[in-house]
Amino acid sequence: MSALAARLAARLWRDESTREAFLAALSRGDGGLPVDIGAETGGRDGLPEWTPEWVSRRTGAAGEQSYGLDFSSVWEMQALSVVPRPVRRVLDVCAAPGGKSVLASRHLAPGFHLANEVVPKRLGILRHNLSRCGIAAHTQRWDPARLAVEAPEAFDGVLVDAPCSGQSLLARGVENQGCFHPATVKGNAMRQRGILSSSAACVAPGGWLVYSTCTFSPDENGKNMRWFGRRFEDFELIEVPDLKLWESEDPRLPGYTLYPQQGLGSGGFVCVWRKRGERSELPELSTALTEWPVAGRE
Ligand SMILES: C[S@@+](CC[C@H](N)C(=O)[O-])C[C@H]1O[C@@H](n2cnc3c(N)ncnc32)[C@H](O)[C@@H]1O
Repeated sequence: MSALAARLAARLWRDESTREAFLAALSRGDGGLPVDIGAETGGRDGLPEWTPEWVSRRTGAAGEQSYGLDFSSVWEMQALSVVPRPVRRVLDVCAAPGGKSVLASRHLAPGFHLANEVVPKRLGILRHNLSRCGIAAHTQRWDPARLAVEAPEAFDGVLVDAPCSGQSLLARGVENQGCFHPATVKGNAMRQRGILSSSAACVAPGGWLVYSTCTFSPDENGKNMRWFGRRFEDFELIEVPDLKLWESEDPRLPGYTLYPQQGLGSGGFVCVWRKRGERSELPELSTALTEWPVAGRE
């Protein structure tokens, strides 16, 4: 592993054996834990007891109607266990290729689900994945800033699975050059703040925002969450009891982090916020947000 990875490990842990285990897991690249959403295949051995019953270990290729992903995504979306039900409307701001949207739909069964993806060439795969998994949703391709203008306080819940430096991909054997470089991390952290600001505007009073990444740098995770808490005083942190084991020990850097040496997949970060205020009627949605439906399963 690179000197930059070692520098990150030194920032994350005092304990040398934990640093070494982290760097070794990244180097080996065999840390993925493949699971299927919606297929009963390889059982649930070794998965946490809170794992939803519609998740099972994958032994071969993912099925046509199931969604194959790394367990880290299931771990991140367990954060949805704490959000108030029923969920009238949910917005997935950075949705392609669709894994988190499939998980959110399974967890929440929202009345209206908008899966947004700003990169046009990624919309096809998003729509295909939602459709084959039978997820009833709508798609759009707006920049988060436009969502903030066209749909202020219009959603009970907003998911921000942010574009990031993707350091955890290494633990799955995916090459990702430069992912520890300070310029990469800083560029991502700044972009994430922009996306978070716009996304916060879409949350209705009493609603929630879930922020997740697949990286480990505190600048993109806990430090961004500290920034968010200061910048948006109308949001408060929400604890996720199921993820207690993975909670940050530093209250200045809130959130939960799964590391690849912990054996539950390549790793990731998640944090949940609640917007203060009472739930009330949601504003009417712009018709442009309902133009591109994906049919669910009957
Ligand atoms: C981590 S991926 C999302 C993965 C997806 N949530 C899933 O579970 O399958 C981040 C997504 O954000 C999109 N993205 C890139 N730049 C963005 C921006 N400035 N604003 C919003 N989304 C962006 C990327 O195209 C990518 O699809």
